[in-house]
Amino acid sequence: MLQIKSSLKQSVKSLVLSYEQFTNSRFYKLREETNGMLLPIVYRKMYDLCSQLPDLDIIEVGGATGTGSVALAWALKDRQKQSKLIVVEKCEGGTRVDVGGYAENLQLINSHFSKFGVSEQIRLFPKELTFDNGNEAISLIQTPQLAAFVHDADGRIDRDFFLFWPLLCEGGLIIIDDYANEANYQPISERHPLGGAKLILTYRLLNQIIEWGLFKPTHKIGKTIFGIKPSNADFSRFNLATCAKIVDEIEAERKAYLASQKIPVSAI
Ligand SMILES: C[S@@+](CC[C@H](N)C(=O)[O-])C[C@H]1O[C@@H](n2cnc3c(N)ncnc32)[C@H](O)[C@@H]1O
Repeated sequence: MLQIKSSLKQSVKSLVLSYEQFTNSRFYKLREETNGMLLPIVYRKMYDLCSQLPDLDIIEVGGATGTGSVALAWALKDRQKQSKLIVVEKCEGGTRVDVGGYAENLQLINSHFSKFGVSEQIRLFPKELTFDNGNEAISLIQTPQLAAFVHDADGRIDRDFFLFWPLLCEGGLIIIDDYANEANYQPISERHPLGGAKLILTYRLLNQIIEWGLFKPTHKIGKTIFGIKPSNADFSRFNLATCAKIVDEIEAERKAYLASQKIPVSAI
């Protein structure tokens, strides 16, 4: 049953891609040439929404090979904005293993920025973002507020809301990928540092953040959700301890699932 569902999903994806090759060729080609992980229509939506934003910096966590980054930076460039896109990418582990080590990943993302003409629009923070080094990333922001923040990384949107939401202008754009009530629990390994919990982590953390009134959804394409910082939102409702509890609960579920299947919790 699961196999049928997954091959059906693949067929629908191939159909959408064939259609987009002709109807959305700019973003189709960008995705092809940079090995982007989202559908061209998602990159197009990111571009369109960013084109309408005020001239303020944007921060994106999870650049990978830079597909989303180029789409966002094109919006800045085509609208002749002065503001920059800060791209946070750790360049190692997880999907980056498919490309190589840190040096290869850094070289690849920078080569895409240059190839697609957006090096001037981008400041790269080539490190793993943590609560501890958040201020280093924030020091790259050179406008009084942010127009948007984008998360397509490790599902730790609690960290990104904590660091960047207070800097976002009212009505500012928030884009979050991997919002789905799905888990694919497995041992933690270099290739799967989150043990298959990224989607469910994103889903439960974002639902809590929506309940606190800090994110108002506006669009959803597949697992990518778009929203805004609502006016009169009250950040004092944001509670890191509640977020940590959600993270711990999911880790306990992952461990219980693996124990029930007699699989080790870590392969490292
Ligand atoms: C799904 S990929 C991003 C895909 C990309 N946005 C695109 O358009 O194709 C997730 C990326 O997030 C990076 N990442 C995960 N956690 C991170 C963190 N805490 N700090 C920086 N980068 C992180 C990973 O190295 C990986 O390249």
